[in-house]
Amino acid sequence: MVTRQKMKTSVSVVVYLLLCTVILSVSESQKPSPSNAPSSLPLAAALFVIGDSSVDSGTNNFLGTLARADHLPYGRDFDTHQPTGRFSNGRIPVDFLALRLGLPFVPSYLGQAGTVEDMIEGVNYASAGAGIILSSGSELGQHISLTQQIQQFADTLQLFILSMGQDAANTLISKSVFYISIGINDYIHYYLLNVSNVDNLYLPWHFNSFLASSLTQEIKNLYNLNVRKVVITGLAPIGCAPHYLWQYGSGNGECVEQINNMAVEFNFLTRYMVENLAEELPDANIIFCDVFEGSMDILKNHERYGFNVTTEACCGMGKYKGWIMCLSPEMACRNASNHIWWDQFHPTDAVNAILADNIWNSRHTKMCYPMNLEDMVTQAK
Ligand SMILES: *[C@@H]1O[C@H](CO)[C@@H](O)[C@H](O)[C@H]1NC(C)=O
Ligand SMILES: *[C@@H]1O[C@H](CO)[C@@H](O)[C@H](O)[C@H]1NC(C)=O
Ligand SMILES: *[C@@H]1O[C@H](CO)[C@@H](O)[C@H](O)[C@H]1NC(C)=O
Repeated sequence: MVTRQKMKTSVSVVVYLLLCTVILSVSESQKPSPSNAPSSLPLAAALFVIGDSSVDSGTNNFLGTLARADHLPYGRDFDTHQPTGRFSNGRIPVDFLALRLGLPFVPSYLGQAGTVEDMIEGVNYASAGAGIILSSGSELGQHISLTQQIQQFADTLQLFILSMGQDAANTLISKSVFYISIGINDYIHYYLLNVSNVDNLYLPWHFNSFLASSLTQEIKNLYNLNVRKVVITGLAPIGCAPHYLWQYGSGNGECVEQINNMAVEFNFLTRYMVENLAEELPDANIIFCDVFEGSMDILKNHERYGFNVTTEACCGMGKYKGWIMCLSPEMACRNASNHIWWDQFHPTDAVNAILADNIWNSRHTKMCYPMNLEDMVTQAK
């Protein structure tokens, strides 16, 4: 017993030392701007990200899929000015939040070497095209679905347990933030495509309930892996995205109500289920952040935020640049900073910054219930 305890201690020391080296080398290589530099004291042990293209940081670069952002102009306004697989001109919300937490940008699961040192401050499992339903997005090619991403996290946890022991690994996970942004592809690439005649079989309300309860079940699975701090973001107003303005023949940039209504309904149900789950799991902190509300605030008050191009994407082709996806630098506008939409489905990094600020501390408008992320990591249980 004594020797085992000793061994455990020395392993922890080694892991701690590795951790310090990793922090140093990562902050060297990522070079976030000074105002956003990680603080010396992280507010969470690590950041784990689960989701779709809204938060993919490079998973799909390694998959056979049409849904990839590993070419310019994607990434042209990112810290490195290089494409990374992020579906934006610059940072995605989890980048801004990682820095707020005092952590580096977390690597994509498939984009790192698979060692404990690579993953100890967090991993991003998100995969563009992924949905809550396994087959959502399959017509684009390969993706890692919600259930598969959670399986990958379970593999990461196994590695942590082997390396630092059960107790240390469980403590690390319970002090980490989990950010989940998924569900839109279950509409875009499943329901709205009428896959397997789903439109006839399920009314939107039934389809929504099915998705929200599946998501809730997955959060319970994470809880059983000792996850205690969770952010669920809900769905964005995808009915306002340039692709749907083009596809539904919007005349003056009016959003497609039919699509937005489904997102609103999903958010309503998910928020309700998250609230119930929080009661069921009193030692967990689970918050729901409504990106629909936050995004509608930006669309409505776009002038105040400095956006004067609100319906047309920066990069793409056709009306609203919503017809053909963003494939080359020549298809992009000169300066995306006054645009809300970067490509036919995804916002610019200026929008991502505002949404992240709201999730962090409700800076522009309240989006998170029952509390924002800063309160969760600084005050809550
Ligand atoms: C969905 O597909 C079925 C056949 O598979 C068809 O009968 C139905 O009309 C379609 N629904 C819509 C809204 O297109
Ligand atoms: C938006 O503002 C920029 C200058 O800030 C101007 O060059 C551009 O023409 C404007 N675009 C629209 C669609 O009003
Ligand atoms: C884009 O425009 C904004 C404000 O109009 C300006 O601050 C920024 O430097 C421009 N970015 C580029 C890359 O030209």
